[in-house]
Amino acid sequence: MENYIAEINQNLNILMNKLPDSAVKEAMVYALNGKGKRIRPLIFIATLNSLGVDYRKYLDIACSIEMIHTYSLIHDDLPGMDNDDYRRGRLTCHKVYGESIAILAGDSLLNEACRIIIANSHLNATVKLELIDSLYHASGINGMILGQEIDILNENSLVNIDILNNMHKLKTGALIAVSFKMAALIANVDYVPYQQAGYDLGLAFQIQDDILDVVGQFEKLGKPVGSDIDNNKSTYVSLMGIEKSRKKIDELFDRIDQFTTNFDSPEKDIEAIVNLIKGRDH
Ligand code: IPE
Ligand code: IPE
Ligand code: MG
Ligand code: MG
Ligand code: MG
Repeated sequence: MENYIAEINQNLNILMNKLPDSAVKEAMVYALNGKGKRIRPLIFIATLNSLGVDYRKYLDIACSIEMIHTYSLIHDDLPGMDNDDYRRGRLTCHKVYGESIAILAGDSLLNEACRIIIANSHLNATVKLELIDSLYHASGINGMILGQEIDILNENSLVNIDILNNMHKLKTGALIAVSFKMAALIANVDYVPYQQAGYDLGLAFQIQDDILDVVGQFEKLGKPVGSDIDNNKSTYVSLMGIEKSRKKIDELFDRIDQFTTNFDSPEKDIEAIVNLIKGRDH
């Protein structure tokens, strides 16, 4: 995984170096760097590998997914959203560059991610359109943005478990699911089982995030502990406690393991990233 992370980071640098020098560019680069786990591009790469596709042709697409994720983090941390001061082991983007530039840096990551897919030299136009439609559907008002809306509008009220599951599916699951789906689209195979596994993994990932907000360590997480409590959020922990939340995570990983048994390559590329997430403490 370390090699893939190095390649993702190298390609992010190449892509950022092409942009005109500006405060917004500096803020984009700042937000992308730091201790990001690169989970979503790693899922995309592992799925391509598992499907026998040469991932090196699509490292730019992997970066476009990470750029959209990073934009969502910049905006998620703003005073008008979760109002957090630390991210990826250092001050949040708006704390360093100010709110205006941080908002624009998020916007710009969202814009450039689309142009990067358009510029890929290995894909035909039809597949590019499928990728762009999928990625922007998942991160937009049908996906991540709607999840963030539900999260924000329900601060200070405890939602029921169905609403919480839907919120987690949208705000976090959608981008993780589309990381699998985009690899399946490039490989030209049925994406539905991949997307479903992605939703399960995304829900497990967000429940872990809810738990880590209570029992995690700032030094490892690189972001504040207790942010959800400060903001009176509905989370898996606030709704059902830590033990039941952990049980739910185990159930989800059982289903994901069935998927990897049926769909992973003999080299177990998807299993490797799933196991990384399973054991995560940050
Ligand atoms: C944080 O995502 C936001 C959630 C969806 C829980 P990550 O935990 O993947 O954050 P980075 O990219 O490693 O910083
Ligand atoms: C955010 O969920 C999900 C996003 C779409 C960014 P959180 O608000 O729980 O993420 P963290 O804990 O700040 O990383
Ligand atoms: Mg949030
Ligand atoms: Mg947050
Ligand atoms: Mg959180």
